[in-house]
Amino acid sequence: MVKHIVTTDDDPAIRKVLQLMLKKEGYDVTTCKDGSELEEVLNSQGDEIDLILLDIKMPGLSGFELLEIIRHGYPHIPIVMLTAFNDLDTGMKAIRSGASDYLAKPVRRDELIACVQRVISKSELQQNLTEEKKQYLAYQKELEEKLSQTMHTLKDTTRATLEAFSETIEQKDAYTKGHCNRVRDICVSIGRALNLSEDAIQILEGGAILHDIGKIGIPEQILNKESSLDSEEEQLIRMHPVFGERIIIHINQFQPYRTIIRSHHERFDGKGYPDGLKGKNIPLEARIVALADSFDAMTTDRAYRAALPVEIAVEEIKLCSGAQFDPELVDIFLDNEIYLL
Ligand SMILES: [Fe+2]
Repeated sequence: MVKHIVTTDDDPAIRKVLQLMLKKEGYDVTTCKDGSELEEVLNSQGDEIDLILLDIKMPGLSGFELLEIIRHGYPHIPIVMLTAFNDLDTGMKAIRSGASDYLAKPVRRDELIACVQRVISKSELQQNLTEEKKQYLAYQKELEEKLSQTMHTLKDTTRATLEAFSETIEQKDAYTKGHCNRVRDICVSIGRALNLSEDAIQILEGGAILHDIGKIGIPEQILNKESSLDSEEEQLIRMHPVFGERIIIHINQFQPYRTIIRSHHERFDGKGYPDGLKGKNIPLEARIVALADSFDAMTTDRAYRAALPVEIAVEEIKLCSGAQFDPELVDIFLDNEIYLL
């Protein structure tokens, strides 16, 4: 495409020479005799100008004043200033003021053409880069939006799956109706009192809902048995954390809940199951669920006994502090009156 150059000089001879030299190289040239003519050309053809050659000393608006106007109004147009012979200081001032280059008068043809070609190709490169950057940013924004939509969908799916699992557990074990959600609420309160991060709280929530998922693998007549269990049945019940881990092992988004599911029956004194982990070796989130799970189990009706009053359950929790439960968590549970939930 033919490049459009606008020259501005009050000397008609120089205007003519510049026009001839540039036209000979195939450029489209518009000449202006002063700033007001240049402003008219800018107003009508501002978007189609590829370069402006600007004399510094002109009547009316000076070259530097015009340079300011063009830089603010048409920042995409590169400007080459024309200075008096050997006036290096003015040339440097022009570059510092935002001109792309300067040429000393009288302008030699080869210098003019080399300068014009260099400045135009640099400006094109910059415009391409700007365009590419714009496209890249738009693409990045599009990707971020897609990712955010996918995350929302995934979150919704995870939540729905969690609810479906919790419903399945509760249908299987009639006496635990609402248990998963209550355990979740207690766990979240303990987590907040511990100032856990939002991510940790979310893991706690999901893990609390899923902690007994392994009960799906236990026959209902054992789960809901009113008389005491024989040792074989007892053994089977004690397998539910391991069954639970096996159930969720292939579901990617449930992996953060794995330790809660496996370790929610560990005891602080190391006498729990399935691994006999002791103290702080039991993951924190599993210690929290262990406390919340036991408290809720005590305060709701079970197959083999009626619900205990809250104050009796609280006494029981205190008694088991340091044995079954993490004593620090028991203190938090009591100090923050989380048992009143
Ligand atoms: Fe359990």
